[in-house]
Amino acid sequence: MARRKTSAPLIPFKVTGTGSFLPSKTLTNDDLAQFLDTSDEWIRTRTGIRLRHVLGKEEIPAQMGIEAAKRALSRAGKTSAEVDLLLVATNVPEEPIPGTAPHIAAGLSLRKAPFADLTAGCAGFVYALALAGAWLQVGLARTALVVGTEALSRFVDWEDRATCVLFGDGAGAVVLERKSGESGILGVALRGDPTKLHLLRIEAGGVRLPASCATVQAKKHFLQMEGKGLFRAAVGMMAEATRAAAAQAGIPLAAIDWVIPHQANLRIIEALVKRLRIPAEKVVVNIDRVANTSTASIPIALDELVQEGKVEAGQILALTAFGAGACYGTVILRW
Ligand code: ACO
Repeated sequence: MARRKTSAPLIPFKVTGTGSFLPSKTLTNDDLAQFLDTSDEWIRTRTGIRLRHVLGKEEIPAQMGIEAAKRALSRAGKTSAEVDLLLVATNVPEEPIPGTAPHIAAGLSLRKAPFADLTAGCAGFVYALALAGAWLQVGLARTALVVGTEALSRFVDWEDRATCVLFGDGAGAVVLERKSGESGILGVALRGDPTKLHLLRIEAGGVRLPASCATVQAKKHFLQMEGKGLFRAAVGMMAEATRAAAAQAGIPLAAIDWVIPHQANLRIIEALVKRLRIPAEKVVVNIDRVANTSTASIPIALDELVQEGKVEAGQILALTAFGAGACYGTVILRW
């Protein structure tokens, strides 16, 4: 799309509330080294992760999304009765049918709002944000709730040191309100590269390979990842999408006040900002404390930034992510 010359946003809305939730149970790298052939030193230097939060056995995953949404609604001064769209970005649903959104809608006592899950790998939250914004823009809703929630701890093989050390559980949420003015999405570049869909997958449990004793014995219900392939692709994908979104917004990269990248690996984040020549102090990093929470990673980091009082009206934020699919993309927001 051509560079825009006006300061009006491409998709106008205001983010009026953010919220997040992390389970209370934590696992340090040293905790993992008690039962895995790994070390704090390996995990920290390869990924930047020190700690991750994981759901306890008795905890209900949807509760994370419900809590994050309640916090976001309360900060927006809204009741759940005022929500007229709920989009939930997630990769591993509460149940294959009906998914996660109905469980969150039930927890919030939504009655009339449409709700749906959106699966786009770890880029699900940026996809859902853009979609919810467009939904408001065409007048189908006044108040939208976008939730990213993930409990990958239930889908990693805790005997596979190459994957289980990377992930954590959590949820984040934002409330969007239809408002004309200067805030909203200035530029958006959502992409996918299906030639890379083999890089991250859970093979069994869908219609291609339904659950059976054989699939369980072969550990095909666990997340499998080609880490090196993803690492190589991630930086290029997020850099390209960020440049494209900035070009559509009609702003130079130097105009971005905050970059909130998907928290998959500190080395990926560092390589990305080096490639984009963005100063480190503009980049939000919390992977050391939360690990990779997939679709929840961006809304959790955004909520922390907002609660710390660091985001000011008029500032420009770039949210960029990549993940399974390989779906990726960047949304550039004016706050
Ligand atoms: N502890 C100790 N050793 C380990 C561990 C571990 N936890 N994990 C792997 N190793 C070993 C490997 O077995 C291998 O040993 P070998 O040389 O004897 O075979 C060695 O360490 C090197 O392994 P590599 O895979 O080459 O390590 P690499 O430096 O590539 O780092 C990592 C691996 C961290 C997974 C990296 O490739 C990465 O971050 N990739 C991107 C992952 C990613 O982004 N995933 C999520 C994207 S999508 C989403 O967010 C859902």
